[in-house]
Amino acid sequence: MLIIGNWKAYVERRDDAKDLVTAAKRLALKTRHKLVLAPSAPYLGMLAGGGKRSKVGFGVQDVSAVTVGAATGEVTAGTARQAGATYAIIGHSERRAMGDTDPIVSEKVKRALTNSLTPVLCIGERERDAEAQYLGTLRAQIAAVYEPLSARERLQIVIAYEPVWAIGKRAEDAIRSTDLAEMILYIRKVIATYLPGHNASKVRILYGGSVDASNIRELAGGSRTDGFLIGRASTDPASLGALLKALA
Ligand code: PGA
Repeated sequence: MLIIGNWKAYVERRDDAKDLVTAAKRLALKTRHKLVLAPSAPYLGMLAGGGKRSKVGFGVQDVSAVTVGAATGEVTAGTARQAGATYAIIGHSERRAMGDTDPIVSEKVKRALTNSLTPVLCIGERERDAEAQYLGTLRAQIAAVYEPLSARERLQIVIAYEPVWAIGKRAEDAIRSTDLAEMILYIRKVIATYLPGHNASKVRILYGGSVDASNIRELAGGSRTDGFLIGRASTDPASLGALLKALA
């Protein structure tokens, strides 16, 4: 499985960031899962750049929709790649809440792909409705990104299904594993329409939203998820260790 730790803004102290990476490297040697950490952008170079090759991968939490030029404050995909990232979380609901529309998310995914970053495209409904209109929301989020891309590019995207109502809560508030299984099936069907003749089952689909050591195993079993995008529970060494131990 692919386990991505989204640090958000939880890890502010440099020493805490270093400790977490040291712990992750140790844990990565003992697990069969692929571990990727997404620290705050200013720490990326310090944590991911140089040094010995390790099994831990690094990602950036967002990339700019623009490339080089007059764009104060933007972190471009090119700089993230050179700082050591190989993954880019894009379209996270916390970025969408700050103004990232589907067309912006689509641009960001293109920037990531041209700079050899694997896009981790976050999709998810704000709430559920009895008429299942939320399925249309997911379809539209996927369409906006997939439509302009070639099949080869589409195959490189990792999808993170993160229902907004389940993010940043307690384990009890996460999705149920049977519901997750249905959602993954639905997302895979939508993806398959964009990849006719290709093996859409190769596209990795992760789940994110209030995953911790107490629910990760149940969510993994039977849901056919290919991994997890984990926020809070990935941001201290003990709970990161507990997560991987529970998943085994
Ligand atoms: P959480 O965040 O695990 O803290 O709910 C997940 C995410 O937003 O990526």
